[in-house]
Amino acid sequence: MEKKDILILAIESSCDETAASVVKNGRWVLSNVISSQIALHTQYGGVVPEIASRKHIENINGVIEEALAEARVTLDDLDAIGVTYGPGLVGALLVGVAEAKAIAFAKKKPLVGVHHIEGHISANYIENKELEPPFICLVVSGGHTHLVVVNGYGDYKVIGRTRDDAAGEAFDKVARAIGLGYPGGPKIDRLSKEGNKDAVRFPIAKVNDAPLDFSFSGLKSAVLNHINMCQMKNIEINPADIAASFQKSVVDVLVSHSMEACSMYGMKKFAIAGGVASNSAIGEAFSGECLKRNIEFYHPSPVYCTDNAAMIGAAAYYEYIKGVRHGYDLNAVPGLKLGERI
Ligand code: KG4
Ligand code: ZN
Repeated sequence: MEKKDILILAIESSCDETAASVVKNGRWVLSNVISSQIALHTQYGGVVPEIASRKHIENINGVIEEALAEARVTLDDLDAIGVTYGPGLVGALLVGVAEAKAIAFAKKKPLVGVHHIEGHISANYIENKELEPPFICLVVSGGHTHLVVVNGYGDYKVIGRTRDDAAGEAFDKVARAIGLGYPGGPKIDRLSKEGNKDAVRFPIAKVNDAPLDFSFSGLKSAVLNHINMCQMKNIEINPADIAASFQKSVVDVLVSHSMEACSMYGMKKFAIAGGVASNSAIGEAFSGECLKRNIEFYHPSPVYCTDNAAMIGAAAYYEYIKGVRHGYDLNAVPGLKLGERI
C-alpha cells in the first residue's frame, strides 16, 4: 500500500506577518501566503502590537482561503492544523491560535502547536530535502539570537544566546539612528554595498564566561556614540560607511561564534535561520568559512528566512508524526522557551 501523504495547514501570526501555508510531508510547500503589515508599521518606526493584532484578525480568513485555493485543497483534505503558539506578541499569537482551534474543532482535525523558533530552524528542510539532524543552527531574527544544536526533530540544545539585544533588533536600532527607518535589516544590507566596511572600527563585546553567547547592545551604543561624536565635531557622517562597518562587526561575531560551536561539537553541518539570515553579507561570509572548514552550509531563501507559515508547516509535520497533539485549550505562550512543551 502506498504511504498516504500528510497535508498540514499551518498558520503564523506571532508578529507582523499574517501567514498561512499548506505543506505536504513536511518539506513540499503547496502554497505560502504572507500578508505583510510592514508598510503599516513603518510610519510608527516599529511594530505596534495593538495594530498588529487588529490587522491579523482582519486578514487571517482571506490569507487561509488563498493558501487553500493555491494548494488546490479544502479543509477536508487536511491531516492536521499547525499553528505558532509562542514566542511572540500575545495579542498577535492569539489570533492565529484561535483561528487554528476553530478550524480543528469544526473539522475534527488534530491541532499541533509549534514553537516559532523551531519553525525558523525547520525552514531549512524545505529547500534542502536531504538535510537531517544532527546539525548546528544559528537563529538570528528580530527577537532572537540563538546558537542551537539540533540533535533530532524537535530535540534542541541551546548552546549560545544573546545577553541583551537580538541581532535583528541591533540592525533595526542602528538603521533608525542613521535615518533609514523600519525595518532596518534589509535597508542596512542594501546601503552597506555602497559603503566601506573598514571605515569605522566598532568594538564587539565578548561575553567572558560564555564564549558562545552574544551581546549587541555595546555595538549599538558604539554606533550611536560615533554619530554623536561626528555631530559634535561637525564631521559629516557617511551612513553607508557606518552601515557597512556595523554590519561587518555583526557578521564577524556571528561567524566566529558559529564556527567555534561547530568545532566544539564536532559538527560538519551548519544552518542559519531567521530574518537576519537573509542578509547578503552573512550568507557570503558563512559560505566562505564553511567551505574552508569542510562544513556543509544550509540557508533558506529570503522568503523562508523572514516570518512565514511554510516553516511552521515543516516543524508541525515532525511534531505530528511523533504524535504531538494539542487540546482545544491551547493558549498563546508569549515567552515560550525552545524545547519547552505546554
Ligand atoms: O524572523 P523575522 O522575520 O521575525 C522575527 O521572528 O523576529 O526577523 C525580522 C528581523 C528584523 O529585525 C529585520 O530587520 C531583520 O530580520 N532582517 C534583516 C534582513 N532582512 C530582515 N537583517 C539584516 N539583513 C537583512 N537582509
Ligand atoms: Zn520570526
